[in-house]
Amino acid sequence: MNLRSREPLIFDRSVPGKVGLDLPKLDVPPAKDTRPAHLKRHGFDALPSCSEPEVIRHFTKMSMWNYGMDQGMYPLGSCTMKHNPRLNEKVAGLSGFAESHPMAPSTLVQGNLALIYTLQEWLKEITGLAAVTLQPSAGAAGELTGVMLIRAYHLSRGRKRRAILIPDSAHGTNPATAAMAGYEVVDVASAADGTVSFEDITDAVTGRVKKGLLAVIAEHKEDIAGLMVTNPNTLGIFEHRIDEICKCIHEVGGLVYMDGANMNALVGVARPGDFGIDVMHMNLHKTMSTPHGGGGPGAGPVLCTAALEPFLPKPIVVRDTEKVGEGEVPHHTYRWDWERPQSIGKVHSYYGNFGMLVRALTYCLSHGGDGLRTATLRAIVNANYIRHELEGVYNLPIKTASMHEVVFNDAIQAHHDVHTLDIAKRLIDYGFHPPTIYFPMVVSGALMIEPTESESKEELDAFVHAMKMIAQEAEETPDLLHQAPVTAPLRRLDETTAARKPVLRWTKALV
Ligand SMILES: Cc1ncc(COP(=O)(O)O)c(C=O)c1O
Repeated sequence: MNLRSREPLIFDRSVPGKVGLDLPKLDVPPAKDTRPAHLKRHGFDALPSCSEPEVIRHFTKMSMWNYGMDQGMYPLGSCTMKHNPRLNEKVAGLSGFAESHPMAPSTLVQGNLALIYTLQEWLKEITGLAAVTLQPSAGAAGELTGVMLIRAYHLSRGRKRRAILIPDSAHGTNPATAAMAGYEVVDVASAADGTVSFEDITDAVTGRVKKGLLAVIAEHKEDIAGLMVTNPNTLGIFEHRIDEICKCIHEVGGLVYMDGANMNALVGVARPGDFGIDVMHMNLHKTMSTPHGGGGPGAGPVLCTAALEPFLPKPIVVRDTEKVGEGEVPHHTYRWDWERPQSIGKVHSYYGNFGMLVRALTYCLSHGGDGLRTATLRAIVNANYIRHELEGVYNLPIKTASMHEVVFNDAIQAHHDVHTLDIAKRLIDYGFHPPTIYFPMVVSGALMIEPTESESKEELDAFVHAMKMIAQEAEETPDLLHQAPVTAPLRRLDETTAARKPVLRWTKALV
């Protein structure tokens, strides 16, 4: 390894007494320390002592080791790593948006409220649902909000329902959310085509019978609070019987929650409200291209039918329109509506991550309705191009039509003792971020590829070429793949220990 590409922690570079700045001595009395004691840090290990060039080189080097969307394709399935248009950033940085205080009286921030209101209207139109909150700050936060709406709805009708049905192809956050909201999670089997099965399914290997939707409904009937369905599901497949699923759940008085994190495959093409969904979330940090990764900030708006509207978190932005004469332009004013006695309360401080809402509306307005639809269609075409080019080179376990992402696995390469992790690590040597691996769990050794609409044919071809080279290497030089990545500053890491015992904060004890 090139020794210069090694980089210690900035704390390990520290030499006591070194300073990064050379300022003249203070020639005025020092300011009085007015910080309240409870806000001061205690027992803090000193900051590292380094020179300015050392600090700059350290962080520049670290940033060059990183891989981001701005360097190349980032096909992390389910995560929708698409280009963040710089226009969105520019608009979000305008001082009227970026510097306005969240507690400013609504009369002083009419423009900001108008923006929130307008985004609410766009999202209602896109999803075909009647009401919306923009408060939740992530997809998972939106899910919890949505399930709390379902609970509030049933309680308001004097019903104590205990179960939420979840197909086994759901995103992992769905069962976690239902359990957090106090519900019992009941599994529903998937059929061989990857969609929710209405009939029971017998596992070919274990002989175990998994209940399909009809049997689960028959068993739990009036105990069913609802069903959570990811659509398109985590296999990138559209639940083509979604209207029947909704009908069956509604017949026993349950509600249907749609995990709409994959709405980038539906915007402008199909509206969940039209096929019977009662409540859903969208991930603006995915579908509307606001930046994400590293834990946020994001935005996971929740949309719902009129029946669930009274329970939405408060406040909501509403618009009052002055009556005007014929031919005159109506005058609108915007205000927070706190008078919501059945509301589940607040789920985020103020009104969520406002900067993300600015970016999302900029994305909608700059695309226009037809542009949003084109983006969806391009995302689907890109995923299907990769599917077409790599089918046969890699095993495609489920053959149902793909939407915005495609799931292969390592069944062909496994004959040469090359597995999903080896393939993913080798992609780093070819200059690509690996796809999502070993997820969804319904596919053994999954490689889940989501190119998004951002990629050109040239970039897709380069990715396909890399994947084909890796498949050839798996046959001819499998050991090379076991060693991969061979060009990265760090090689194979102990990912299990890193995930189970994360060390996220430096302390002296670590030295
Ligand atoms: C299908 C699906 N549901 C839910 C989530 C959770 O969203 P978040 O990470 O914003 O909490 C994701 C995240 O990518 C997702 O892909």
